[in-house]
Amino acid sequence: MTTDPSQRTRVLTGITTTGTPHLGNYVGAIRPTVQASRNPATQGFYFLADYHALIKCDDPARIQRSTLEIAASWIAAGLDPEGVMFYRQSDIPEIPELTWFLTCVTGKGMLNRAHAYKASVDKNNLAGNDPDADVTAGLFMYPVLMGADILMFKAHKVPVGRDQIQHIEMARDMASSFNHLYGEHLVLPEAVIEESVALLPGLDGRKMSKSYDNTIPLFSSSAQLKKLISGIVTDSRAPGEAKDTEGSALFQIYQAFASAEETATLAKAYADGIGWGDAKQILFERIDREVAPMRAKYEELINNPATVDAILLKGAAKARELATPFIKELRHAVGLRSLASAASTQSHAKTARAASPSFKQYREQDGQFYFKLVDPQGRVLLQSLGFGSPKDAGMAIAQLQQDDAKALATLGAQVSLGEGVSAVVVAEALATLRAEMAEKAKAKA
Ligand code: TRP
Repeated sequence: MTTDPSQRTRVLTGITTTGTPHLGNYVGAIRPTVQASRNPATQGFYFLADYHALIKCDDPARIQRSTLEIAASWIAAGLDPEGVMFYRQSDIPEIPELTWFLTCVTGKGMLNRAHAYKASVDKNNLAGNDPDADVTAGLFMYPVLMGADILMFKAHKVPVGRDQIQHIEMARDMASSFNHLYGEHLVLPEAVIEESVALLPGLDGRKMSKSYDNTIPLFSSSAQLKKLISGIVTDSRAPGEAKDTEGSALFQIYQAFASAEETATLAKAYADGIGWGDAKQILFERIDREVAPMRAKYEELINNPATVDAILLKGAAKARELATPFIKELRHAVGLRSLASAASTQSHAKTARAASPSFKQYREQDGQFYFKLVDPQGRVLLQSLGFGSPKDAGMAIAQLQQDDAKALATLGAQVSLGEGVSAVVVAEALATLRAEMAEKAKAKA
């Protein structure tokens, strides 16, 4: 059974192309994502975030190599480029264009609060440096580029690590600001945090991470894999002495690859005093068993970069079938459009306006978000004070629309009646709006 593509949940995630995939990436991201990509109820968008890589890395060869390695790893691990959208961010020119549209609706203050940027500022402050010393505008804009990645494809779910949740919230914020200003175009995404996925320890027992230099590459040769595994830290207990599974990096890594049964067997061997050398041999064999079949495919791809290029370009062409018309719609929405069509659309908007009262949201020089309710003739019926975010303003509007009389009372301090306008007139206008919304909802259902 195939699901109607437009009905499927769109799942999207990006991988920054600055490193070589290691076992931690495999267990934490590649393996679960490849598995999830086979769910026919979802449509997967997986892309190489190479524009993001430029923020962290100024070594062109490394970016190129990493892009090849990551793409080859995902395909070798079973990702089907035909079944999903698999592309390189920099092959989609609509993404930087959307980045600019979002930049223009994103509060600078919000970006000031982004964790990665703030961490750099805090570090500078601590060192007594200028707060923005060595901070690029790229780092500052990181969340906006990421927002464009996500909103470009109307993603519903974005699987990410905990450190990325804030970025998804910012993307939601950007989407609702844009929608409030220009109409409902963007879909608000949701972060998905995979709780059950194992966090793999590295060679030294700390979390496996490039920044600790304690990783085991996913695709090293069998001999290299064996050598690296022999370097995993253990305690000094001799063969014959019972060993603790708890806190044993070796055991935790094994567990991430083995079945429950195999894991229980190794736990028993620990209790029975297995020697570390033997335990390492068991771990090596278990990982190699899983990786070996993928290794051939990986080698083939790495040795034929043109093949990988072709796969990515094909993926980009597919993704652009969505991105190109959508950016056209957004260009039109913000007013970058044919001068002839601008005239016709405006008169269209005017006729629509003539029929009913409406809320207008806007932003003032002070950076605050305001709204007003205007009647069909453009008279201001209700005027708000400033709100800190478009979301707050939007919530107040929603409250007014749902529940006029009470909302007017609770929002008393935030809104005031227009000059010479009575509360009754406002209540009537809100009732008209509500009736219209109900009608629209019915038409949709
Ligand atoms: N920032 C993400 C990371 O470092 C990578 C990324 C870029 C991403 N764009 C994205 C993830 C869009 C999810 C959606 O892990």
